[in-house]
Amino acid sequence: MSTALVIGASRGLGLEFVRQYLGDGWKVYATHRSEPDRIRLRDLGAQTLDLDVLDPQRMAAFAWQLDGERLDAVILNAGVYGPRNSTLHQPPATEDFDLVMRTNALAPMRLLPVLAPLVGPARGTLAFISSRMGSISATGTSHGMLYRISKAAENMVAKLAHVELSSLGVRVLALHPGWVRTDMGGPNAEIDVAASIFGMRRVIADATAYPGGGFYDYRGQSLAW
Ligand SMILES: NC(=O)c1ccc[n+]([C@@H]2O[C@H](COP(=O)([O-])OP(=O)(O)OC[C@H]3O[C@@H](n4cnc5c(N)ncnc54)[C@H](OP(=O)(O)O)[C@@H]3O)[C@@H](O)[C@H]2O)c1
Repeated sequence: MSTALVIGASRGLGLEFVRQYLGDGWKVYATHRSEPDRIRLRDLGAQTLDLDVLDPQRMAAFAWQLDGERLDAVILNAGVYGPRNSTLHQPPATEDFDLVMRTNALAPMRLLPVLAPLVGPARGTLAFISSRMGSISATGTSHGMLYRISKAAENMVAKLAHVELSSLGVRVLALHPGWVRTDMGGPNAEIDVAASIFGMRRVIADATAYPGGGFYDYRGQSLAW
């Protein structure tokens, strides 16, 4: 049986990753921050783990609970958008900068040493749920500046993880889910969660077509960094 870990599984894209992997018969570890979310994930059939990625103590307890596990797919999904009005002309407040950068960039950096020994033995895939808004090449506006900067930083974390871990057989991907109808994406977004997750799971499953070190969208299109 294959095993997945979804970090940030309480709602939106993370919850749908859990549903679809469970539906395919995988064992799924799913992280949450609240008791109602733990119960919902447990009732779906997931193995639940408490994790706030901003809390080093909870990260240590989380790592201990996974000790010795072999993970075929790890989905680094937890993320925040921050202030919607952040542009070059309206720079973010320090507390917004701290929240967004710590969640989207620092937390993945802190999780890597925990996750590498779990995904290495399975020669598995580490998928960063990034965003096209983190593509420097594709940038045409400063709207959502703070989020863009955090996702560009997350992309660099993914690239560095690829450089360090590919020799161990770990495949590292940066993925753009599309613009998806979730709390973050909003009701006017282009696609639903099922289509996004179906597409990203297809990319994650096909190591030949989508080699490590790449940045792909949910349809498998290669994106410029
Ligand atoms: N939706 C889109 O259109 C879109 C587009 C591009 C990229 N993305 C990326 O896709 C990922 C998921 O987005 P989404 O649309 O599903 O967002 P969402 O509906 O806002 O869900 C965000 C998830 O991240 C978790 N999270 C946030 N801060 C956390 C923390 N400190 N510790 C642990 N978990 C935390 C949330 O948990 P709680 O419920 O506990 O808050 C929730 O499970 C994000 O990384 C986002 O940047 C989304």
